[in-house]
Amino acid sequence: MRRSVETSAVRSSGHSITDQKAAPESEASVVFVEDPEDAESYRPVPASVTNDELPFIPSSIVSASTTSGRHWIVIDNIIYDCTEYITEHPGGQDILKPFRGHDCTWQFWRFHGKGELLREGRALRVGRTSGVKNKFKERPKFVGLRPWGSDYL
Ligand code: HEM
Repeated sequence: MRRSVETSAVRSSGHSITDQKAAPESEASVVFVEDPEDAESYRPVPASVTNDELPFIPSSIVSASTTSGRHWIVIDNIIYDCTEYITEHPGGQDILKPFRGHDCTWQFWRFHGKGELLREGRALRVGRTSGVKNKFKERPKFVGLRPWGSDYL
């Protein structure tokens, strides 16, 4: 079923009533996806789209994405599609696997700065969400007592 999702973003591979009139992507107001409840329908949006303009994807769909072919993770309520990126991730594939379909905000900020998110993450964004759970409770940082990063899980 083809349905609209309210957003000003346009999927790079999608069609919208506005892009048929050759409107610039940043001005488009409606995006169509094959099935908004299926993670497979979404693809990363152009870097020019702001976070506020990303399509809103409910947490239930983010959780259900684990049964799709996509590898979504959530950082600060933004969904990143790491399906292809996981093999290129400088920190390795294994570290991303437990976070599929989950929030990993605090773990991400233990290892990265804003630069990585802007430089490498921006092209991976598929949507906004809220209420996605982090499987792991954040532990205090024991700087100086343990090797840096050993308490990320
Ligand atoms: C959008 C998602 C992510 C992007 C774009 C990303 C990007 C990057 C980049 C660019 C580096 C290299 C940093 C450098 O050379 O200084 C890196 C390293 C790393 N990342 Fe990620 N990452 C992501 C998610 C995660 C997550 C969820 C974890 C889990 C905790 C993680 C753990 C690591 C680790 C452990 C390293 C190696 C750090 C080091 O060698 O000091 N990454 N990542």
